[in-house]
Amino acid sequence: MKKNFTIFKLKKKIARATLKKFNTLKNDKFLKSKWIFRKRSYAKAKILKSKIIWLKGTSFFQSKKNNKYVGGLSRKFYPMNIQIKKCVEDIIFDIFENNLISSKKIFLGAHAIRIICNNENLGYPVPEGFHHDGFDYVSIISVNKLGINGGKSYLKNAKSKKIVFQKAMQKNEVLFFNDKRLMHYASPIKLIKGKIGFRDVIVLTFHE
Ligand SMILES: [Fe+2]
Repeated sequence: MKKNFTIFKLKKKIARATLKKFNTLKNDKFLKSKWIFRKRSYAKAKILKSKIIWLKGTSFFQSKKNNKYVGGLSRKFYPMNIQIKKCVEDIIFDIFENNLISSKKIFLGAHAIRIICNNENLGYPVPEGFHHDGFDYVSIISVNKLGINGGKSYLKNAKSKKIVFQKAMQKNEVLFFNDKRLMHYASPIKLIKGKIGFRDVIVLTFHE
């Protein structure tokens, strides 16, 4: 990809059955606050000539440099459900069809994440602030949201520090960007309707 980022709509909307699976995500054990605002699951894979081979294991590591909040810690996440993995496969298919990745062999990290908020508490999609994930490319897919405002996604040029993208992404939109050149962030979510609000995303990381 020549550009630093792109945004597009999925060819096929994410299925209702996949949306429902986000209700089964488990609490993130690695949050430091009393209020557990994040639920998640994780899977890793190898992509060979655009074919996905899912790998065993769910341990995940980010350096302290990339993640000031929980970096330097090996985190073992709850494994991703098969239905969400199938959805990831469809998303990867669209990414390849748009020629965003050229390498024949690539490692994939796939996260399903729900951020929640209630009357008393905001939800924080990115407690660590603007950051790099530490890969070549990252993709953020807006899956679902309910009863919230906020949760706006931002991209910032790492050198010039200029904000180059900001948007509260719509369902089925895919943001794909160069993780080396850009930093990313999303603003907190606030409840506007109901008892619990949420923002569901899939985050994909790619490295050669
Ligand atoms: Fe990130």
